[in-house]
Amino acid sequence: MYNFQEAIFVTSSGNYKKCPPADKPEIAFIGRSNVGKSSLINMLVARKGLAKTSGKPGKTQLINHFLINKSLYLVDLPGYGWAQASKTLRIGWNATVNQYLLHRENLACLFVLIDIRLPPQKIDLLFINWLSTQDIPFAILLTKADKISKQQITIQLKNFKQTLALYAISPREYFVTSSNNQLGKLEVLEFIEQILSANN
Ligand code: GTP
Ligand code: MG
Repeated sequence: MYNFQEAIFVTSSGNYKKCPPADKPEIAFIGRSNVGKSSLINMLVARKGLAKTSGKPGKTQLINHFLINKSLYLVDLPGYGWAQASKTLRIGWNATVNQYLLHRENLACLFVLIDIRLPPQKIDLLFINWLSTQDIPFAILLTKADKISKQQITIQLKNFKQTLALYAISPREYFVTSSNNQLGKLEVLEFIEQILSANN
């Protein structure tokens, strides 16, 4: 089992060109503001305050690189779909993140986080659809599963799978997660291990 023994914050970049050298595989976390990207990174590395979290959407504004065991980068990206963000900020987000996604050659997999409680949202579907046209490998992580019952989890997961199938979109994998009760942690770590061995 992959174990995150060492996790260090490396740098925050406003531009993909300023990111650390692309010499290790990297996994990035993306999704709407407040969906739980930073919290999920902290859960995986078992370090509460490593990635900054907040109850207020729009906390993460830059591309944040964390180096794991000197051999893997985890990347915390700014959230999309933050209604209160100024128009300039939203356009800036698109440019920064789009450029990162299109040009970062060591991006091994993108984790797309979606709040499990909501029906599939247009902004997520548009984004995922764009991803599949760009051949960017991605997995879907349904977050905050501690907020609904087991029965609702099954229904929501089925719903997402059906909706994406309708658009002929096939993620590498689906995960149900909770940063509050560690649901999905082992499965996600195993998946990361698989990605790393495929990249070696
Ligand atoms: P931005 O950086 O603003 O895009 O947000 P983010 O996606 O990084 O979200 P963040 O991890 O900061 O979490 C947002 C809020 O959701 C915080 O109040 C977290 O405590 C809460 N939260 C995150 N994950 C979970 C979860 O699994 N369960 C519950 N109940 N709350 C969560
Ligand atoms: Mg964040």
